[in-house]
Amino acid sequence: MDLAALTDDELISLLSGADFWHTQSVPGLRSVLVSDGPHGLRVQDTAGEHLGILDSAPATCFPPAVTLASSWDEELLSEVGAAVGAEALAAGVAVVLGPGLNIKRHPRCGRNFEYFSEDPLLAGRFAAAMVNGIQSTGVGACLKHFAVNNQESHRFVVDAVLDERTLREIYLAGFEYAVTHSAPRTVMASYNLVNGTYACDNHRLLTEILRDEWGFDGLVMSDWGATNDRVAGVLAGMDLEMPGSAGAFDPELRAALADGRLTRQDLQRCAERLVALVERSPAQLGPAADFEAHDALARRAAAESSVLLTNDGTLPLEPGMKLALIGAFAEQPRFQGSGSSLVNAVKVTTLRDALHERGVEVTYAPGYNADGSAPDPRLLAEAVTAAEDADVVVVMAGLPGTYESEGFDRDHLHLPAEQDTLITAVSAVNPRTVVVLSNGSPVLMPWVDAPAAILEPYLGGQASGAAVADVLFGDVEPGGRLAETFPLEASDVASDAYFPGAPHQVEYREGLAVGYRQEGAPLFAFGHGLGYSTFDVGAVAAEAEVAAGEDAQIVVPVSNTGTRDGSTVLQVYRHDRTGRVPRPRRELVAFAKVRLAAGESRDVSITVPARGFAFWHDGWQIPQGEHALEIGWSSADIRQTVAVTIPGGFTGTVTERDFVAPTPRPVRPYSRVSTIGELSGNPIGKILRQIALRVANYRDSDPATQVMIKRAVEEMPMRGMALFSQGKVSLGMVDALADLANRRPDRVVRSFAGWATRLVAKS
Ligand code: BGC
Repeated sequence: MDLAALTDDELISLLSGADFWHTQSVPGLRSVLVSDGPHGLRVQDTAGEHLGILDSAPATCFPPAVTLASSWDEELLSEVGAAVGAEALAAGVAVVLGPGLNIKRHPRCGRNFEYFSEDPLLAGRFAAAMVNGIQSTGVGACLKHFAVNNQESHRFVVDAVLDERTLREIYLAGFEYAVTHSAPRTVMASYNLVNGTYACDNHRLLTEILRDEWGFDGLVMSDWGATNDRVAGVLAGMDLEMPGSAGAFDPELRAALADGRLTRQDLQRCAERLVALVERSPAQLGPAADFEAHDALARRAAAESSVLLTNDGTLPLEPGMKLALIGAFAEQPRFQGSGSSLVNAVKVTTLRDALHERGVEVTYAPGYNADGSAPDPRLLAEAVTAAEDADVVVVMAGLPGTYESEGFDRDHLHLPAEQDTLITAVSAVNPRTVVVLSNGSPVLMPWVDAPAAILEPYLGGQASGAAVADVLFGDVEPGGRLAETFPLEASDVASDAYFPGAPHQVEYREGLAVGYRQEGAPLFAFGHGLGYSTFDVGAVAAEAEVAAGEDAQIVVPVSNTGTRDGSTVLQVYRHDRTGRVPRPRRELVAFAKVRLAAGESRDVSITVPARGFAFWHDGWQIPQGEHALEIGWSSADIRQTVAVTIPGGFTGTVTERDFVAPTPRPVRPYSRVSTIGELSGNPIGKILRQIALRVANYRDSDPATQVMIKRAVEEMPMRGMALFSQGKVSLGMVDALADLANRRPDRVVRSFAGWATRLVAKS
């Protein structure tokens, strides 16, 4: 493909999509299709849909990232990735828009279900495994959302302000790992700003760090509607505006080319990356997807990722007991989150169906309304009666869809109050009560000690009911370990006071104190999870000295001391004893998932990468002196410790620096990046909101999507009207509306004159 042969306009056309999901074609270059992701395909038949949440073609709905991450099993993540890739290949999709690997800074983030962990090592390793799986099929993957996109509130306009060390060690480290260990074909630049610059305009992030430091050689695309300043974006290395905006930015690109702010080489650099992506993309459709096999994989993945939080021995259940099944989620399951990742599942197995298929007789009582609507004392009473009469009770509880979704954050971490009441009441009449949760992020458990067992299978994908039954009856052991901390209260979370910040600025004042890196006792610790067997670790062997920059090797003897085959996860944390730098008490540096037969013992070799000792201080530094490696079952349950001394390395000392926050951008004067919500007191804003709500046409969507769309209308910057209107509204019109709202009629007249001139010139 000879880009030099293209006209300027053809070249410019390549830098944005042809429609909602396709890239542009020019003579000699075909167009390719990209689709959400990440835990199943969402291929839409409509090209120009406004907000992208219409029904999509049926696909396997695998468990989302929160669940898969709890498996701590990279092979499983790769297998799921390969299955999603195979479905993509069959559907003619060149790039699956995922995985998402943003850090769970606060459990209130509504999109946490779509992310892996609060820990960058886990996020990076699991994302890399998923990318490797997807790309093994020939289809490309897309790491998203780059970067520091850790909340849904104000996501289109908020500036994430953080210090360099926190940025590197927590928020970029996972992306760095995934880029350097899986070579994803694409990366998606997020909506928000990072330290004052939109991610899509951010040369430092997209070129200096992503490409120059980490060696990324793929294409960067914008999140949908995230493009801010296309000229700055081209210079920053943001190659592809998505979705296509019918050329909304083209006049600005042409003007920049004409006045020398951009050269043809600048445009060609972006276009070359698109050409490379298209040339690497499969040209033929793959064979039809094997939905049966994928359903079986979804089931296995969900079961192996389930985390058993507590158990007094009631689980696994013995066959033949009289079982009461309580909870509307047993019939109307919550198995995935809402928003752009919503998969139209090929089939759904509920827990009630799964128990029926096994021939297990149950007394069923819904107990509450699945949609979280008003408490119903009649349902509660009926459930308590059913519980009284049973040998064992299974209560399915969790968050209704409107509680957590892409597009908005949770206001609190509670379950619906009627579910807390139900669990307490049922456990009181029957102590052999097992609570099974359906949620995409931690919930508070004021009743934690009341039930006999608590199983956290999170959102289990389409086969969630079958997977839960497999675990309850012990066909599969709950192999999951928490990839996040469950706090006792939301206010215990270090970022709580700063989350989600103000519309234009969120300050990451808690720095490195994210999840288990902060002090204090949680409800359930990061890494926690029980199996159906028991394990023990013996004295760990390690070299006493490791040169700075070299990996450390350790050998951990581990035994299955129980009577069942099972798995465990050996977690290795580093405790820096050098005193040279303030650091979290412990940080995960390595792990190994180990499967052992009943009574079996094995020596497990684990590599602790040199990076595990490093901290950021004008580059990665390894402090000279003694470090402890702590091996345990969770961040709060350490069983063995071994000392390692690093002779060379950083010999200085570093102290905490003050957090300096800039003044947030003022609301006025209004501009393209003002949100409709900000204009709400203004007559222009009122009209715009009415138009936007009408265009969004959301009333037929599910309740969670309705909330998300209403929120998006309030929070979307005005430029979105141009980017999503398929050419009906230009950026010039948006600027003019902002001027009108600013009561600058002189500018409005100038803008109108500008359009008129362009319009005449065009015709
Ligand atoms: C989401 C992305 C998604 C895109 C396309 C955006 O709103 O943030 O994750 O891939 O829409 O649906």
